[in-house]
Amino acid sequence: MSPKFCSLLFILLVIISSFINPSQSRKYQKHKPCKRLVLYMHDVMFDGHNTANATDAIIANPTKLSSYKFGEFAVYDDPVTVDDNLLSPPVARAQGFYFYDMKTTYNAWLAVSLVFNSTEHKGTITFLGADMMDDATRDIPVVGGTGDFFMTRGIATVSTDLFQGASYFRLKMDVKLYECY
Ligand SMILES: *[C@@H]1O[C@H](CO)[C@@H](O)[C@H](O)[C@H]1NC(C)=O
Ligand SMILES: *[C@@H]1O[C@H](CO)[C@@H](O)[C@H](O)[C@H]1NC(C)=O
Repeated sequence: MSPKFCSLLFILLVIISSFINPSQSRKYQKHKPCKRLVLYMHDVMFDGHNTANATDAIIANPTKLSSYKFGEFAVYDDPVTVDDNLLSPPVARAQGFYFYDMKTTYNAWLAVSLVFNSTEHKGTITFLGADMMDDATRDIPVVGGTGDFFMTRGIATVSTDLFQGASYFRLKMDVKLYECY
C-alpha cells in the first residue's frame, strides 16, 4: 500500500470508530443536567418561645445511645430562597424531616420535599437520604417530583452554608435534575 493510501485509511478508521463507539458522548450527555436549581433553605429552630418565626421543631429527643443526638427527630417547613438572605421572598417551601442516626458523629437522614407554588414553578421535588454532615458537600438522591417536575430524578448537592448553633442553619442546595419530561 502506498503511504498516502495508508494515512487515508487511518483517518477513515478514526472517523468510523468515533461513530461506532458513542459511549463517551452518551456518558457525557447522561451527566449533563436537563435542569438545575440553586436554592437556599433557612431553618429557624423552635426554642419554646419563637412561635412566629420558628420553622423547625424537635419532635423526639435524642436517646442516650450516643452523644451525637442519636435518635433526635425534627420536622420543618422552611422558606426557600434563591439567595442566602433569610428575608428574601421565598420561591418555595422545604418541608420534611430529619433524624440523627449515627453513633460516632453528627449524621442525619434527611427527607425534603421542595414545594413550589408560584407563577414560575408549580410542583414538588423530593430528595432524601444520608446527610453526612461532616462533609463539606453531600450528594442526596432526588427520587421524584410532581407538576413541573413530573417524574424527575437527579442529585441534590447539599452544603451547610451557615450554622448558628441550635437556633439557625442554612443549607445551600444545588439541585441537578437528569430526567425531565
Ligand atoms: C422574627 O423575625 C423578625 C425579622 O427578622 C424579627 O424582627 C423579630 O424580632 C422575630 N421575632 C421573634 C419572636 O424572634
Ligand atoms: C398555591 O397558590 C394559590 C394561589 O396563590 C393558592 O390559592 C393555593 O392555596 C396555593 N396552594 C398551596 C398548597 O399553598
